[in-house]
Amino acid sequence: MFEHSQIKGRLVTAAEAVAQVRSGDRVITGQAAGVPVTLLNALSAREDLKNVEIFHVLTMAEAPYCAPEAAGRFRFNTIFASASTRTAVQEGRADFTASFFYRLPDWVREHPFDVAMVQVSPPDKHGWCSLGVAVDYALTAVRTARLVIAQVNDQMPRTLGDCFVHVSELDFMVEQSTPLPELPPARIGPVEEAIGRHCASLIRDGDTLQLGIGAIPDAVLLFLGDKKDLGIHSEMISDGVVELIEKGVVTCRKKTLDPGKCVVAFLIGSRRLYDFVDDNPFVEMRTVDYVNDPNVIARQDNMVSINSCLQVDLLGQVCSEAMGSRQFSGVGGQVDFIRGAAMSRGGRAIIAMPSTAAKGTLSRIVAQHGAGAVITTSRNDVDTIVTEYGIAQLRGKTARERAESLIAIAHPDFRGELREQYRAVFGQSV
Ligand code: COA
Repeated sequence: MFEHSQIKGRLVTAAEAVAQVRSGDRVITGQAAGVPVTLLNALSAREDLKNVEIFHVLTMAEAPYCAPEAAGRFRFNTIFASASTRTAVQEGRADFTASFFYRLPDWVREHPFDVAMVQVSPPDKHGWCSLGVAVDYALTAVRTARLVIAQVNDQMPRTLGDCFVHVSELDFMVEQSTPLPELPPARIGPVEEAIGRHCASLIRDGDTLQLGIGAIPDAVLLFLGDKKDLGIHSEMISDGVVELIEKGVVTCRKKTLDPGKCVVAFLIGSRRLYDFVDDNPFVEMRTVDYVNDPNVIARQDNMVSINSCLQVDLLGQVCSEAMGSRQFSGVGGQVDFIRGAAMSRGGRAIIAMPSTAAKGTLSRIVAQHGAGAVITTSRNDVDTIVTEYGIAQLRGKTARERAESLIAIAHPDFRGELREQYRAVFGQSV
């Protein structure tokens, strides 16, 4: 076990640590691969608690506090629904709070939580622990909560950047060696490949990239092997970026802000990624009130953001987080980066999606969204939409030109229908 004079008295079991949580407390935890699963499981096992709010963003783990049996004891709240929390959000057993990701640390400062639970690397000889793979809002949570409990995991990489907490800031430390959750490699088929090629054609040597999570960003990365001096300024990165760093494609040399460093708020990938970022000064971890702030992003010349969505209408309104009004995920950093890229000199904002969903039976390009649809990216912010059928540049286009460009990249089976619907709704032909 690690040693430091100030650890004495802080080391406890998970059950002892969560015994400090009181009924009515608001608890914030780390997210994504940094979710302190051992602590959350121990907390969820407490039958005596009432009305404890649990807040985090993404999780890759089970969420027992979202189970119907947890009602009355725990109420989950989030700005981003995940596989294990989505049903509770959709059934109204958990809360959803709409917020841009970059605003989250400010919101945490304005509404401090009672308890923060995070996962950290073991302390170094000076007593500093790294927040590792999820710094985003975790640092703010530690600095603002009344009580801080840390799961200390020797499998958590010691990432570098503005991501360190000192043992003196941790009220309780729970030692638990557990593998971090890993993302299975995305399935990249011909559709994703075609999207990847189109997106790559919009990327120039020296650009700085933001990429989301999943098959589309991974497919884009596959086609960047011949680019030079790309940079990374991204809410998150995964394994694909490591490959481009190792090939010398990502150098960050041309970045106008934070040159020579990949700036990132959280990481989800395989052990390869987690080993790569361990003690690696090339990757700088920062909170989202820096990484995702559109004003910060705007200072990066040639900033290119690439995100995905669920549905786009012929006005260019983008639904990325909900199917109709049923919450599926959250805005995440999508609008933060689209706005930042719009303000960046030479910047571009790409939204890429397959042209169809539900095994080809539905067009993701629709004449109109249904009543009550949640719009994530407004038609005023939208820039470029990509499907496997091509690229629709929407910025500066008239409504009719937008509809034409979008129909041209819809699946051919739906193009005729979309033209008819456009005529019926807008009284014009395209
Ligand atoms: N109508 C009905 N069903 C739809 C649909 C539509 N318009 N669009 C997608 N679906 C279905 C898909 O068929 C799929 O179902 P299946 O799993 O049964 O095949 C499911 O919904 C998920 O769609 P998919 O495209 O596979 O989603 P994804 O996992 O690639 O995630 C987003 C896409 C848009 C939800 C995700 O990128 C997101 O949450 N974005 C917003 C946040 C963001 O951009 N953050 C940026 C930085 S991380």
